[in-house]
Amino acid sequence: MARKDMRGSRITSIAFHVPDRLVTNYDLERMIDTSDEWIVQRTGIKQRHWVEGDVGASELALPASIEALEKAGLKASDLDMIIFATLSPDITFPGSACILQAKLGCPGIAALDISNQCTGFIYSLSVADQFIRTGSMNRILVVGAEVHSSGLDISNKGRDVTVLFGDGAGAVLIEATEGDSRIIDTRLHADGRYLDILKIVAPASKLNPRVTHEMLDKGLQYPYMEGRAVFKQAIARLPQVINEILDANGYSVSDVDLLVPHQANLRINEMVIGIMGIPRSKMVSNIDRYGNTTAASIPIALCEAVEDGRLKSGDLVLLAAFGAGLTWGAGLVRW
Ligand code: COA
Repeated sequence: MARKDMRGSRITSIAFHVPDRLVTNYDLERMIDTSDEWIVQRTGIKQRHWVEGDVGASELALPASIEALEKAGLKASDLDMIIFATLSPDITFPGSACILQAKLGCPGIAALDISNQCTGFIYSLSVADQFIRTGSMNRILVVGAEVHSSGLDISNKGRDVTVLFGDGAGAVLIEATEGDSRIIDTRLHADGRYLDILKIVAPASKLNPRVTHEMLDKGLQYPYMEGRAVFKQAIARLPQVINEILDANGYSVSDVDLLVPHQANLRINEMVIGIMGIPRSKMVSNIDRYGNTTAASIPIALCEAVEDGRLKSGDLVLLAAFGAGLTWGAGLVRW
């Protein structure tokens, strides 16, 4: 139950941004050996947004962050920290949080990068919540942003992965509260034994040199995925963590007003709600329009749910994500 009168944190503002270029499944049919039918049947994806030219994750994050700040009537200088979740940082280092901080013009505040793939937003939300609960900080900007398209193998060899991913960014402002509307709890998990089923191998510090022409010719710079193994893990881990967070806080599935899951695959999410007994009408799904935007998918879906009126003040919202690492987690929010 919500811990009333105790210091906690609350999502006070939310915004998202996707690049203008729309890539439909029919566009992909012209690039690789695939079909709209194959992609829709297996994933639910109909289109995704891809950047054009040289655009980094922070450039997608910037408009979302500015809008989130404006909606809250705040300036970047009011922030105590930026947390940036991404698996596609602008450059290897420094992290995209520092890059975004420079673009927002708020020197001096903390800037933290989180690399937890599709669970990156939940990990970031949890970190922000802990910093605020302890009283150490009051206002944190949490961003999930990805540019996948420049790192995809747009050839028949990479078609299983390439059709899945889209570019985009979501930003939320987390502020201290003592009221009922708050992040009730977050639960985080990982199992590194499965790290090989979804990964990018090069460039890498464990390779010397980190990247060679030969590695590039082999396509080691592109994501490698054992799709069926990932699928099986996702439909086991997501129900586990959903049960864990509901049980720990004295709620049952019927108390949940809205489930906002990570958007990796509509079939995964439909199986999860089937296992959990959550009605389809309570699940937000926008994967048909954006594909898998990894750390950005939950804030984008959450923002759309707020904008279209599905998410109302006082609702109990369940967030759940699963991704490479493996990592998985959940968040329970009284909106
Ligand atoms: N278009 C057309 N055919 C494709 C294709 C594409 N884009 N990608 C693969 N295929 C082919 C395969 O080559 C294979 O052909 P074959 O039977 O002649 O060998 C066939 O389709 C089936 O491939 P398979 O990989 O077994 O398909 P699948 O039913 O497991 O579906 C995924 C593939 C990727 C959609 C599915 O495994 C999945 O969604 N996994 C989870 C992925 C995920 O969520 N990743 C992110 C985690 S955060």
